[in-house]
Amino acid sequence: MPKKIYFDYAATTPVNKRVAKAMTPFLSEKFGNTMSLHSFGQEAKFALDQSRQVLADLINAEPNEIIFTGSATESNNLALKGVAFANKNKGNHIIISSIEHPCIMESAKWLEKQGFEITKLPVDKYGMVNPKDVKKAITKKTILVSVIHASNEIGTIEPIEEIGKICRQVGVYFHTDASQSFGKIPIDVKKMNIDLLTASSHKIYGPKGAGLLYVREGIKLVPLLHGGGQENGLRSSTVNVPAIVGFAKAAEICRKEMRLKGYPENRRLTSLRDKLIKSVLKIKNSHLNGHPKNRLVNNANFWFDFIEGESLVMQLDLEGIACSTGSACSSFKLEPSDVLLAIGLKPQEAHGSLRVSLGRFTTEKEINQLIKVLPKIIKKIRAISPFKN
Ligand SMILES: Cc1ncc(COP(=O)(O)O)c(C=O)c1O
Repeated sequence: MPKKIYFDYAATTPVNKRVAKAMTPFLSEKFGNTMSLHSFGQEAKFALDQSRQVLADLINAEPNEIIFTGSATESNNLALKGVAFANKNKGNHIIISSIEHPCIMESAKWLEKQGFEITKLPVDKYGMVNPKDVKKAITKKTILVSVIHASNEIGTIEPIEEIGKICRQVGVYFHTDASQSFGKIPIDVKKMNIDLLTASSHKIYGPKGAGLLYVREGIKLVPLLHGGGQENGLRSSTVNVPAIVGFAKAAEICRKEMRLKGYPENRRLTSLRDKLIKSVLKIKNSHLNGHPKNRLVNNANFWFDFIEGESLVMQLDLEGIACSTGSACSSFKLEPSDVLLAIGLKPQEAHGSLRVSLGRFTTEKEINQLIKVLPKIIKKIRAISPFKN
């Protein structure tokens, strides 16, 4: 059986060996609780503080502005609900984009039921939010704008610096979900006028179970969890030190890669991605989703006429190639992805999508294999497609 090929790095990544090594002592001998006064606790607290510093440095934040959570889902919930309830005396209006991850969409939907007003900003056919639309949508009652940094599905990178500037000018908080961009694209929260930012460890070769929310100093949030008061009272729970140490190590590795002259990993992935896009678009009736240039270096997303994405993913899996249709979170719903509908695809078109996300271990040989296999599978599925007529 040939080696399996993984093209789903946007869903999750394997833990880097150096990350696992950094975590190991904190699973066994350095197991203390950061809230304990004795030396075991202080040793864990020291590792936590160091990790906070490393992660803050990556986005030009201060360590006390980093709140550790269990995932990006939790960070996004805390950002939206936390700001909403802490600022309900100022206003009840929240603006999000129409291409957010389900954890923002569902949090917004829930807030709507609690009496908040939600505006969903449109995007263009490439999935770009127009900053002018943000400006127009802000009212006297607006308390928060949340726009994803880079789409997990179609890879489009949003103009968050401009959006942040607009929000800062009118005193509205700006949150961005940077789960897919953190550690891959340079982020400077000060320069980009970001008030709150979400990131997740398992997207950057760190372990699952660790996320962060950057909260600019002075911004008040209502916590989701009440208890022992960890993380400045914003996230009670015994702190998951091994996962956070791993998260920081993974971020440190990303930082080193980003600082290498010419950012070689970025160039490598861009060239592999572009080779893939060029070849796939040669298949009859195939289309690219997302921005042709302004997109994540590791993301390619297509839709094919007369194809059902699930069949495509299953057939590719039989060939040992793991891709996804829509995002990992929507691929079990069997409903067309909201993101693809937002960029103007019809439900049937959105069903025919394929996301290929590359990563640190993707090779040219693997890309060539996909390029070889994909046209044959598409031909086979189209031959029996009920959509064709
Ligand atoms: C943009 C974005 N936001 C949020 C999440 C949720 O991340 P987590 O698995 O850490 O909860 C993901 C993961 O798929 C994502 O891609």
